[in-house]
Amino acid sequence: MKVTVVDHPVVAAKLSALRDETTSTPGFRRLVDDLVTLLAYEATRSVSVEAVEITTPITTTTGVRLTSPPPLVVPVLRAGVGMLDGLIRLLPDAEVGFAGLVRDEETAEASWYADRLPEDAAGRAVFVLDPMLATGGTLVAVVEVLLSRGAESVTCVCLLAAPEGIDRVQASFPDDNVSLVVAAVDDRLDERSYIVPGLGDAGDRLFGSASGSGG
Ligand code: URA
Repeated sequence: MKVTVVDHPVVAAKLSALRDETTSTPGFRRLVDDLVTLLAYEATRSVSVEAVEITTPITTTTGVRLTSPPPLVVPVLRAGVGMLDGLIRLLPDAEVGFAGLVRDEETAEASWYADRLPEDAAGRAVFVLDPMLATGGTLVAVVEVLLSRGAESVTCVCLLAAPEGIDRVQASFPDDNVSLVVAAVDDRLDERSYIVPGLGDAGDRLFGSASGSGG
């Protein structure tokens, strides 16, 4: 797995504001949106394009367009949904699937409750959105399904990662067809498998607690 930690002062400043416990829900949503668009610039660097003839007001020339089939974007419910707009702003033709996994608060293991992914993902470049790479259990489960359905490449876009989570995903997917783009790698997980220093529960901070806690 190729890991890219986006080292950029604007990303670092927005991430610091995101971590701040006094940041309001509207402010948090806005910051996530901005950060994802910045991360998406890196995450889409290898998206495949083909040559296309275009006519400018001056002359004809050769440009590029994204190849078909279009990329597939997969937010992991629920917190990944807060990252969706920021990514499809850059890839407006992308199709969207959803992965619903819930983390057992005792064991920190993830189990599926909604699989809204294509049965056939052959040849697709897939972008999985999950703000927090903590234990890695959720991402491993989602990436396994996508690869088993033929995805050509899977790029995981996360805001924060714990070293433990990166190690687990890396061990599961040693090849270059899986990548991770992340704004920062934090120190560790705590005893509840929360990222330290982290930003708390990303789903709660994005959506409040009305839709249930966890993810
Ligand atoms: N999920 C979160 O929302 N926060 C963490 O720190 C870890 C997992």
